[in-house]
Amino acid sequence: MQGKDLLLVAGGRGLLAIRSLLLAVLSQRENFGRVTLLCGARDIGALLFPDDLLAWHHSGLLDCRITVKDRQNSWGVPAVDVGYLCKDLDIDPQRTIAAVSGPPEMYRQVNPLLFRMGLDDDSLYLNLERHMKCGLGKCGKCRINNICVCECGPIFAYSSIKHLGEAIER
Ligand code: FES
Repeated sequence: MQGKDLLLVAGGRGLLAIRSLLLAVLSQRENFGRVTLLCGARDIGALLFPDDLLAWHHSGLLDCRITVKDRQNSWGVPAVDVGYLCKDLDIDPQRTIAAVSGPPEMYRQVNPLLFRMGLDDDSLYLNLERHMKCGLGKCGKCRINNICVCECGPIFAYSSIKHLGEAIER
């Protein structure tokens, strides 16, 4: 991802994985282009790492946009879907890598938007961690067709799993 612009999209607990990536990026910020974080949750109380989100928002190191479904939220952030935040973005698809981590409905909504913005299959990474149970390759719960998520992932380039079709979004 070095040398690229990054578009990080997190929904709910999906921020856990995105935060790890973002902390690594921020530790060597000079090696990346523009960094954008879109983060959504049910309400302010459901936002993970709220202190980090506020710090990132004010840091000037990245473009951090937050949304929650609760219209009366105390932060005054827009009550829209994360996908809606994508609509204002001005990205260069040739130099952008996107990482998406969140619930199935977010993948259904966000992935097509990213492709419409011009990203290709190799520039989109998805976190399929939610399918995992034992995490040890034993229980078989994470298997999607021929892929064992905990052994082969859980982070995948879209190009390597697009043959799974809608199974990705379950
Ligand atoms: S989570 Fe149990 S086999 Fe992958």
